[in-house]
Amino acid sequence: MKIFEPFTMKTLVLKNRITRAPMFVGYARPDGTPGPLMLEHYGKIAGSGVAMVVVENIAIDAQGMGSPFMLRADNDSYLEGLSQLCDSIKSQGALAFAQINHAGRYAYLPERVAPSPVETGKVVPRELTRDEIEKIINSFASAAKRIKDAGFDGVELHGGTGYLLVQFLSSRTNHRTDEYGGDLTNRMRFPLRVVEAVLEEVGNDFPVGYRFLADELLPDGLHLDETKVFAGELAEREVTYLSVTAGTYDSFFLPEYKEKEKEQGYMVPYAEEIKKSVPNTPIIAAGRIQTPEFASRIIDQGKTDLVGLARVLFADPLWPKKAMGEVKDAIVPCEPSCSLCLQRVMKGKPAYCSQWSKEQRERFLKTAGQKDSKGA
Ligand SMILES: Cc1cc2nc3c(=O)[nH]c(=O)nc-3n(C[C@H](O)[C@H](O)[C@H](O)COP(=O)(O)O)c2cc1C
Repeated sequence: MKIFEPFTMKTLVLKNRITRAPMFVGYARPDGTPGPLMLEHYGKIAGSGVAMVVVENIAIDAQGMGSPFMLRADNDSYLEGLSQLCDSIKSQGALAFAQINHAGRYAYLPERVAPSPVETGKVVPRELTRDEIEKIINSFASAAKRIKDAGFDGVELHGGTGYLLVQFLSSRTNHRTDEYGGDLTNRMRFPLRVVEAVLEEVGNDFPVGYRFLADELLPDGLHLDETKVFAGELAEREVTYLSVTAGTYDSFFLPEYKEKEKEQGYMVPYAEEIKKSVPNTPIIAAGRIQTPEFASRIIDQGKTDLVGLARVLFADPLWPKKAMGEVKDAIVPCEPSCSLCLQRVMKGKPAYCSQWSKEQRERFLKTAGQKDSKGA
């Protein structure tokens, strides 16, 4: 079966087609470093049999943090922790990628910056100056270099979920009148400059993936007509892969999104469309890929090259081994009507899964409780 066959991506050979999509779990210490809880979590995820783990979004600067319990990569003091995190993944036989991000208008601090002052959650962000834009581009490049220096196999730029890279691309959130706003060419300028600066800093041989937003799922938002053009620009710059998503925090809580995301493979049609438009760029499809049969089928049908599992793997870290027949038990599915993990991280609490056994949940809460009191 193709899903269990190796896949070559730039300089890397993935042992199969199953990857772990980035999933913020809120386990970082308040100082932005990984503690034992996080190292253990990533070791377990990496030991699941996935070919590659993408570490959840890591802040490129303090103003761009989406949560106080977020990993940071904005200065060299974070290198040691990032190296430990990387080792916890690689020692389990998986490739290690790390996602870097600036949350822009979705940052958690009340004083936020964005392309334009478009209100979010009763906060109006301040418009970035051109000098600040230059600094953020440099911060992306420096953070990417730290990810490389920490030993990771590649870096992923967070161009999904409606964070800063998307905020520039979308005419909903970018009302600028300078060279960064207006038509699509201008709105693509900031994310493309980030990609170029990162590639220059890490070198063209180092894998740079892109979490890609194909559609904002909002009437006045980004749609495939524009994002396909953007995908072409990224492909021209030889990004290592596009990990395709749909929706942002402005659409995630709409009733139609909540219904849609209960369906198996709800974002796969977007991955398929992007795959058609950039056939030579590896594509990762995510979005409730609950069963190995479904994952295998979409790969065989050429809709995607790889699958990315987030909540699905959180619910059952034995998913890949069970799929391969190495473990005989049935897969424990992520419950479609449950959003406990997301609700917890949005409240600033460490995530756990309602599908875990009672014993596992109790053990987790005890350890996470120690995290709260002792900073572990
Ligand atoms: C709690 C939570 C945290 C997430 N964190 C990230 C993240 O840090 N970066 C990212 O690109 N996507 C993030 N995602 C989106 C996932 O990568 C994935 O695309 C989505 O959850 C669909 O896949 P799934 O059904 O297997 O969870 C997150 C999703 C959830 C539920």
